[in-house]
Amino acid sequence: MTSNIDRYAVFGNPIAHSKSPQIHTLFAKQTKQSLVYTAELAEVGQFEPAVKNFIANGGKGLNVTVPFKQDAWSCAAEHSARARRAGAVNTLMLQTDGSLFGDTTDGTGLMRDLMQNHGVTIKGKDILLIGAGGAVRGVLEALLEQQPSSLLIANRTKHKAVQLADDFADLGQITGCGLDEIKKARFDIIINGTSASLQGDLPPIPETIFNDDSCSYDMMYAAQATPFMRWSSANGAGQVFDGLGMLVEQAAESFFIWRDVRPETVPVIKQLRSAFEQQKNSA
Ligand code: ATR
Repeated sequence: MTSNIDRYAVFGNPIAHSKSPQIHTLFAKQTKQSLVYTAELAEVGQFEPAVKNFIANGGKGLNVTVPFKQDAWSCAAEHSARARRAGAVNTLMLQTDGSLFGDTTDGTGLMRDLMQNHGVTIKGKDILLIGAGGAVRGVLEALLEQQPSSLLIANRTKHKAVQLADDFADLGQITGCGLDEIKKARFDIIINGTSASLQGDLPPIPETIFNDDSCSYDMMYAAQATPFMRWSSANGAGQVFDGLGMLVEQAAESFFIWRDVRPETVPVIKQLRSAFEQQKNSA
């Protein structure tokens, strides 16, 4: 199929559950950009030919999700400084010479959601970041840029947290430890960057970490509050948020990279949230 409309897509496997087509279609409508955004299922081991085929058929850019993040990195001829630091690419853009530019928008997405949507100040705060996988690595540079007073990474597998803290030590006050070694009593901002919520699990951390002003943030989202969110509320966190805003904000940053237009995110977050409410009510 040849097409004269600009095409964008999210590539993953599985991909049917992705909210990206809905989000980008709302952005396109709002900003009056003429484009089509779809979810594309690629076979494992077939990412590169699938992308080439997509580009040959009008593809101008794509988002990449599990399990193709490494393939996305390899496909990019050039990487942004923030993608190099994160060691990850979630956004590919077709350049005029036909090559692909790789960028990552997760860190910006989290910062915009925390600071602009929720009014959270990071500068001078003590932050606990739980987890040490790709999701956490992807947001570390953006978090440290905001100059928190301290940033502690705590992970089930301690050595990964220590390694990550080492990798980013040049950017600020950052340390790593095991989940059972969280010594400090209170944190201002606690972010769950583990995939535990996906399995309905809660990372084992002390319930004494909250005070009335603490902000608790789960990078995951679901129609129902995640176990981490419920646990945070029950143990005295002042504010509790899920990662739906981060999802929309990182999408907006990708949209901006591709189209040079910044969509408004608040109405899109509201629309997704109300779809969740309907889902809950009809469950
Ligand atoms: P992602 O790209 O989503 O970050 P990942 O790289 O597989 O995925 O990392 C998942 C993170 O969630 C890891 O920090 C993992 O801890 P380990 O390094 O010890 O594996 C953490 N994680 C997953 N399930 C967890 C659970 N039930 N309790 C605590 N931590 C968990």
